[in-house]
Amino acid sequence: MTNPRFWLIVPAAGIGQRMQAECPKQYLRIDRRYILDITLSRTLDSAPFDGCMVALHPDDCWWPDTEASGDSRIQTCRGGSERADSVLSALRALTPHAGADDWVLVHDAARPCLHRDDLTRLITSLQNHDVGGLLASPVADTLKRGSNATPPEALETVDRSSLWRALTPQMFRYAKLVNALEQALENGQPVTDESSAMEFSGNMPVLVEGRPDNIKVTVPADLALAGFILSQL
Ligand code: C5P
Repeated sequence: MTNPRFWLIVPAAGIGQRMQAECPKQYLRIDRRYILDITLSRTLDSAPFDGCMVALHPDDCWWPDTEASGDSRIQTCRGGSERADSVLSALRALTPHAGADDWVLVHDAARPCLHRDDLTRLITSLQNHDVGGLLASPVADTLKRGSNATPPEALETVDRSSLWRALTPQMFRYAKLVNALEQALENGQPVTDESSAMEFSGNMPVLVEGRPDNIKVTVPADLALAGFILSQL
């Protein structure tokens, strides 16, 4: 068997509603650079990927203005209405190049603070695994189940000892991930990350502990935090 290759998929077709900005969050700037450019350059420069597919919104008008659009390592495809549709679209766009056992790493466009050591640990921990896994961070806060009241009231404290926050990249074998996403979408399963599709299809992705500062820029306050984290890396 030939050595599996490594592909990077970056879903960047979201419109970032929670950010309340005039452009999607991956096109907000930190230190004058687009978040998407920071995410792509940091990730691609940290591991020997064989190629990269970025899923873009059909009405995206910012991409041509990015540094990444001139990077020969990167190709683009049309994203879908949900994150999982965008990832599946990128996987299909890789079909002519990717083998069934190749590795696909899916990384959110809005996570610019990925540390090189986390990416290396993810790859080295999983490269001999049959299925794959994801970066994740143990939950640190005490967790409450809230009621439906306004304001919500604490109904109980949830045991956090086995709970993890799912981060990205998530790294899976190409054919297994395509099958899992197709199966989950056909069955109307909620697929908020690749791991949830793999779990639905009966696989058990490995949780590889990653740094908790690999944050996803989601609300306006995250932008300054991401800028600070990047200045410390
Ligand atoms: O909205 P959320 O924070 O879950 O988005 C996570 C990632 O998925 C972002 O990089 C976003 O651009 C991407 N996404 C996508 N296609 C969608 C929705 C989100 O590529 N339809």
